[in-house]
Amino acid sequence: MGSNMSAFRAMRWARRRAQRFVRERISDHEFSSLVSSRELAEYQRELADAGLDSLIEAKRLEFQESVTGSELNSRGKPYRFGALGALGRLRWYALVRKTKPRVLVETGVCNGVSSAYILLALQMNGEGHLHSIDLPEYTDSSYSAEAFWSGKGGAAIPKGARPGWVIPEQLLGRWTFLEGRSYELLPPLLQRLGQVDFFFHDSEHSYQCMTFEYETALEASGPGTIIGSDDVARNTAFDDFCRRHGFRARRITPVTALCVVS
Ligand SMILES: C[S@@+](CC[C@H](N)C(=O)[O-])C[C@H]1O[C@@H](n2cnc3c(N)ncnc32)[C@H](O)[C@@H]1O
Repeated sequence: MGSNMSAFRAMRWARRRAQRFVRERISDHEFSSLVSSRELAEYQRELADAGLDSLIEAKRLEFQESVTGSELNSRGKPYRFGALGALGRLRWYALVRKTKPRVLVETGVCNGVSSAYILLALQMNGEGHLHSIDLPEYTDSSYSAEAFWSGKGGAAIPKGARPGWVIPEQLLGRWTFLEGRSYELLPPLLQRLGQVDFFFHDSEHSYQCMTFEYETALEASGPGTIIGSDDVARNTAFDDFCRRHGFRARRITPVTALCVVS
């Protein structure tokens, strides 16, 4: 029995590794069709000069220290910094630099890593404004079972901090933050903005909420609008959305993707 279980686990692990390898190759290929390696090298140099990676790493360590000794949230999950991964930071930065969107909306801020990279790209572009929505979870608060989606992980904000606290002060001029649930805040925000050039989902990763956000963003989109998402490998919401509307889903990293509205 025990050896059957470990053989099963080993097979599952090998299958997941193989799937991840395939997703990595696909995303390398898809991304390089949008941003050339020469352009990427330039954006990478820019990022290094700006020092954002090291600043974010220092903030991550600060977060880690603050949760030591109280690592579990009220759903029994470990508190996490919960940020867009390193490859995603670079590639989404490059995409915003290259496509130069002017009206941007994201859902899911938490500590503010994705927002910081997008905002730096806007500063380098010299134009654009980011509107972000977040329903925050704090490490020093306890919550009822209904406060968040039951599948929510541990992404949280440390004691005494605010959503987006890692964003450098000099980038805040291009940022508007809205606190609350995307179901409630996204429709009126998009109605007020009229048309968006760029939308990025990284809030509640339930199939229902992801679908709601993509469809709502589409209503405020025009030809060329980018609809992007984190955690697309978690369920089929993004692929189903693209299929329904005839858009090509392009992997940007193994776990993020975008489509361009036609
Ligand atoms: C994965 S974190 C976002 C990470 C962020 N994009 C980054 O790179 O640092 C997800 C955030 O969405 C928030 N959230 C969860 N459900 C939400 C909802 N229904 N509407 C808005 N925000 C939500 C979470 O509390 C958390 O702050």
